[in-house]
Amino acid sequence: MKTDQVLLRGRILSFTAEPQGPEDHAAYRYIEDGAILIAGGIIRGTGSYDQLARQAPSVPVVDHRPHLLMPGFIDTHIHFPQVQVIASWGAQLLDWLNSYTFPEETRFADPAHAEAMADWFMTQLCAHGTTSAVAYASVHETSAEAFFSAAARRDMRMITGKVMMDRNAPEALRDTPQSGYDATKRLISRWHGKGRASYAITPRFAITSSPEQMEMAGALTAEHPECYVQTHLSENRDEIAYTLSLYPEAPDYLGVYERYGLLGPKALLGHSIHLEPREIDLLAETGAKPVFCPTSNLFLGSGLFDDAGLRGRGITNAIATDVGAGTSYSMLQTLNEAYKVLQLQGQKLHPLRAFHWITRGNAVALGLQDKIGTLEPGTEADIVVLDSAATEPMALRMQRAGTLSEELFVLQMLGDDRAVTETYVAGTPQKIGARAAQQPALQPA
Ligand code: GUN
Ligand code: ZN
Repeated sequence: MKTDQVLLRGRILSFTAEPQGPEDHAAYRYIEDGAILIAGGIIRGTGSYDQLARQAPSVPVVDHRPHLLMPGFIDTHIHFPQVQVIASWGAQLLDWLNSYTFPEETRFADPAHAEAMADWFMTQLCAHGTTSAVAYASVHETSAEAFFSAAARRDMRMITGKVMMDRNAPEALRDTPQSGYDATKRLISRWHGKGRASYAITPRFAITSSPEQMEMAGALTAEHPECYVQTHLSENRDEIAYTLSLYPEAPDYLGVYERYGLLGPKALLGHSIHLEPREIDLLAETGAKPVFCPTSNLFLGSGLFDDAGLRGRGITNAIATDVGAGTSYSMLQTLNEAYKVLQLQGQKLHPLRAFHWITRGNAVALGLQDKIGTLEPGTEADIVVLDSAATEPMALRMQRAGTLSEELFVLQMLGDDRAVTETYVAGTPQKIGARAAQQPALQPA
């Protein structure tokens, strides 16, 4: 248990509800000269600096003025074994998996490689202001082990699972229904609920799991309702056609996951782009969460996510990077591309909703809003410090920004890791200094 106390001073922004429009000022709390009191990795108070400094006069102050303090960003779909796949040229989903992704993931059979990449992965997340993520590991049990260990060393709230895949992939990446089940069981008992770790049961997608393996994934879901379930859904037209040829009895793609009992409020369905009306009904009924991955959807040419259509049905959408098909670790850059994907469909992503989405919104999608995603007292002290004038183009534009929403839109469209001046994880700074202390410089291959 950490006992150190600190008072962070700066401009404070956090959301209390989803903003219903660009002028919904009741949905957030903004304090011009604010402070966050942290002790033992937990937020003890959020309010005006004067008030908190009076309340805790002997606590050391870290002055982040004039920067913005917000809850750390949450990435709800990302592949940690793909840190060396990001930016691989020229393919759409199935070719991209076969040409780049599967060969790279075979390297994670080596625990030393998995450990090194897990550490780099956490470093990248912290550099980009992301304090929690829902990640896919590789098929290897040791890759999930390496991931959880790296997260625990930094006390990060992380969710992951080893992918289950027993067909349509190289031999070295295949488990079996029984071995995938057994490894998942061991990982759940070793890690779920330990510190800040949670487990996600992870059948990769219908194409790489046999019906027998899907059966096992369904059994795991029934035996472990405390765990998340994550998989991919309707990302690409060829993927959908192939899935339906492998499961000819299924009424549609989502029908496969329905049949094996994977759907519920803890199910996270990456992409969910090309959906049939029955599938949308089923999402609304079961509470399963579509996950919008805009940089990935544009990079692989997958399609345009219908955010407004799904929301109009009362469905809660999460948002994510999907690195390595996604092209940036930055949730700010993810918002930038999300804005454009929605523009192409005549939909609007205003900055208040955008920043709600990558903080409290994703926390709500994960059912974790009592722990992360707001700056409420009693929640975990995961905080990002943002500099809206971090680059010259941003500084120039900021000279003409008159409102908070304008400033947020500058961050949304122009921001990336350069706009993140510090990232606190459970009250401990993890960006500046942490990198030099924890990792050697990268050598050329
Ligand atoms: N579908 C199955 N596996 C993957 C993956 O690794 N990335 C993406 N974008 N889609 C997938
Ligand atoms: Zn993915």
